Amino acid sequence: MLLEILLSLSAAVLALPSTHLDAHQLERRVNNGLGKTPALGWNSWNIGGCAYASEKAALDTGKLFVSLGLKDLGYQYVNIDDCWSTKNRDSSGNLVPDPSKFPRGMKAVTDDLHNMGLKFGLYGCAGTQTCAGYPASQGKETQDAKKLADWGVDYWKHDNCYTPCNNGNPQTCGSPKGNSSTYYKTFSNALLGSGRPILFSLCNWGRDNVWAWGAGFGNSWRMSTDIQNNWGSVASIAAQAAPIAQYAGPGGFNDLDMMQIGNNGLSENEERAHMGIWAIAKSPIILGTDLAKIRSSSLNIIKNKAILAINQDPLGKAATYFTPAGKSKPQNGKLYPYWTGPLTDGVVIGVVAADGAATLSFNFGDVPGLDATKTYNWTEAWTGTTGSGKAVSTNLGSHDMRVYRLKTA
Ligand SMILES: *[C@@H]1O[C@H](CO)[C@@H](O)[C@H](O)[C@H]1NC(C)=O
Ligand SMILES: *[C@@H]1O[C@H](CO)[C@@H](O)[C@H](O)[C@H]1NC(C)=O
Repeated sequence: MLLEILLSLSAAVLALPSTHLDAHQLERRVNNGLGKTPALGWNSWNIGGCAYASEKAALDTGKLFVSLGLKDLGYQYVNIDDCWSTKNRDSSGNLVPDPSKFPRGMKAVTDDLHNMGLKFGLYGCAGTQTCAGYPASQGKETQDAKKLADWGVDYWKHDNCYTPCNNGNPQTCGSPKGNSSTYYKTFSNALLGSGRPILFSLCNWGRDNVWAWGAGFGNSWRMSTDIQNNWGSVASIAAQAAPIAQYAGPGGFNDLDMMQIGNNGLSENEERAHMGIWAIAKSPIILGTDLAKIRSSSLNIIKNKAILAINQDPLGKAATYFTPAGKSKPQNGKLYPYWTGPLTDGVVIGVVAADGAATLSFNFGDVPGLDATKTYNWTEAWTGTTGSGKAVSTNLGSHDMRVYRLKTA
């Protein structure tokens, strides 16, 4: 057992570029070979909760990934969220796909998606029940992980409802007993022992400073409560992500939650900023809309190649705030307009009209890592505009965003 652990640690060290993470960071990263860049996919929940937990929704979405060109852009995970199982386990204690929603069982669905060149994800919970009251994995971790492997599941989202609590067994515990890392570690080990590489998506809503330890157990970790279908929620999650950028790296990323693009709660400008911030923060981009009905402006946003390339840059470092000379500093919990982060071949700079229509300006010399004496060529990802100079100034409509990519080498 000890030898196995030592071997897996050295394998993890060898598998990652040593220039990007120090030895300590490498050691604490889960060694499942997955999630070296943020996951790209779709999940059934934000559209209509339980209503989209079905074979039909999964396969329809898989077909749309192909026909809309999303698969070719790297979107690969088709994930079903809560409500996919029967309310009771079978007589052997196994989770059972609800036959009214998955009439051919799970294996047939994973086979079909794999044949399309896609991957399949499922959802469960660390406590005694899922958030919607279906059987969950507390005490059954090994058996459940083996079942997922049998079905050919590729991605597992592990939610945090009905976990051990000091005041009864509520859905959302206000006074948890102990540290949620214990349940996530148990399930991580169960997945590692399942015989199949399964991407592990932690969903403990940012509790227990999950960003400080999530990479040891999983490939991404939700760092906030659930996203809502409005700009206030998008801005609030973005503001919480900026100060924890340093925890993102190949194999483990801050998860800013599933996308609300296409769900009619955001303006086109706001959808651009939602996508742009999630991309530069290196969040998984898990679409949450009915792709059969998506309007073309939203489709263009989720298909922007330059934005996706920044999200999938192999360096895997997340952007955070910078303060241009003469501008006020960021305030805790409030979305700030100026973001930057490193890329393998340079730097990304994002500017967001966080407080309404504005002219936003900065000098490249204000950006960490750039030289005030140099002239830089840039490309803007949303408009395709290019330019050259020592500064940028842009007029933005309310809540719109621009994303500049600069090469430095
Ligand atoms: C929770 O557990 C993690 C991982 O073992 C540890 O790093 C962290 O400090 C713990 N948090 C608290 C609040 O005890
Ligand atoms: C910037 O672009 C110009 C052409 O527009 C090119 O001549 C120059 O070499 C570029 N500079 C760098 C540093 O890439």
